[in-house]
Amino acid sequence: QAALPPGYRLRALQRTDYEAGFLDCLRVLTSVGEISKEKFEERFDWVSRQDGTYFVLVIEDTNARPPSIVGTGTLLLERKFIHNLGSVGHIEDIAVAKDQQGKKLGLRIIQALDFIAKQTGCYKTILDCSEHNEGFYVKCGFRRAGLEMAHYH
Ligand code: ACO
Repeated sequence: QAALPPGYRLRALQRTDYEAGFLDCLRVLTSVGEISKEKFEERFDWVSRQDGTYFVLVIEDTNARPPSIVGTGTLLLERKFIHNLGSVGHIEDIAVAKDQQGKKLGLRIIQALDFIAKQTGCYKTILDCSEHNEGFYVKCGFRRAGLEMAHYH
């Protein structure tokens, strides 16, 4: 397992992470929108109630003043009827702040999410990504499988 740089901590998302720049970290990935603190907390509470289904991890740089979120990733557990009521782990919304990329933070997040998936009994972990990111996920131990299709609404 890759080590984190000194002062960096990998932990679960907290309700107070709105102030620590969690949403800004996600902006390197896609459009986030203007989310108020109240709306963030509402979503955080909803996600927290889905016991054992959402695992939202962040990497916090505690060297920064104030400490800030520099990376994030989510594991979503899907409970199936097939494979003896098996579970599949879905990796979603991986983002590392632009000025923090290339320090193995992304790798560390994927390793942690994959570890949780294994510990919770998932028989596989899957994700969708662009061709551009294929090399990153290959380095994380993933391989190309299947074809993604989407219907945007
Ligand atoms: N293509 C090929 N190799 C890559 C890429 C890439 N796009 N990005 C990183 N790598 C390599 C690194 O060089 C490193 O290789 P090494 O072990 O030989 O040195 C290895 O992958 C691990 O890289 P990290 O340093 O852990 O990568 P980083 O912390 O920069 O995070 C990430 C990678 C998450 C893709 C980051 O660049 C990012 O946030 N990009 C913008 C948002 C994004 O595209 N997120 C992924 C969307 S897909 C999804 O969420 C399921």
